[in-house]
Amino acid sequence: ILGVGLTIPIGGADMPVVISLLNSYSGIAAAATGFLIGNNALIISGSLVGASGLILTNIMCKGMNRSLANVIFGAVGAESDSGSTDGKEMNIKSYSTTEAAMILDAAEKIIIVPGYGLAVAQAQHVAREVAESLEAMGKTVLYAIHPVAGRMPGHMNVLLAEANVSYDVLKDLDEINPEFEDCDVALILGANDVVNPAAKSNPGSPIYGMPVLNVQEAGRTIVFKRSLKPGFAGIENELFGAEQNQMFFGDAKKSLQDLVRALKENE
Ligand code: TAP
Repeated sequence: ILGVGLTIPIGGADMPVVISLLNSYSGIAAAATGFLIGNNALIISGSLVGASGLILTNIMCKGMNRSLANVIFGAVGAESDSGSTDGKEMNIKSYSTTEAAMILDAAEKIIIVPGYGLAVAQAQHVAREVAESLEAMGKTVLYAIHPVAGRMPGHMNVLLAEANVSYDVLKDLDEINPEFEDCDVALILGANDVVNPAAKSNPGSPIYGMPVLNVQEAGRTIVFKRSLKPGFAGIENELFGAEQNQMFFGDAKKSLQDLVRALKENE
């Protein structure tokens, strides 16, 4: 009853944090059992599971700028109607592949922002191909890694490492945020909540206070996603209607494959 009562009010957006916490409890329980029955293997393995679960929980809470108590009792994401656009109509513009390739052709510095959608689409390899084509054209390409992009800490690092993207070009939130103001294009690949300006500008937003990537400071932003649907936190993103933003609708992998082809034709 305690377990069910504690987890039922927690919003979907916070579920990974809770799973990690419960996982850590299982380790603590195993270690306690080890003390009771005098089993050293249980004490050691239980302590390892308990401690690593607590560290992971702490990293996730820090990344969202929330306390553990707020995650457990705050129920963020349970209700998803407190959007950031306050019911205002957004002026959505979208690019074709050729237009996006032309914009990138004219850009000098490009920052790639990967998110959960990139992982869903398994588009990490083709994202690296896009970066390589741009680098071959003499452009600077960096990757902005938000601590809670994806569904687990380090999700994006692992995904990009799998695609052989060098660690030197993966930049953490604090390191990359000052880079956006002199960046020509930010390519947002399947990311949503981690680039939502409402986290800074709208005190009524459920993600208010969560550190976000300052993509709106880039000259242009191009968002690759399939629709205007919200991300994990279930809230609208006013970036989609911003003056400098263009949407590139479609599955991230397919869209990026088309983009690589168009970039190669331009080379
Ligand atoms: P989200 O805000 O979840 O947005 C992902 C976007 O990807 C969606 O809006 C979706 O839009 C798009 N997408 C899905 N499949 C796609 C596909 N095949 N091709 C192209 N786009 C696709 O992701 P995020 O920006 O990475 O943010 C992470 C969220 O998870 C945050 O809210 C964070 O708090 C939460 N969270 C993360 C963690 C950790 S530690 N990483 C832990 C707990 C919670 P469409 O459906 O329109 O395509």
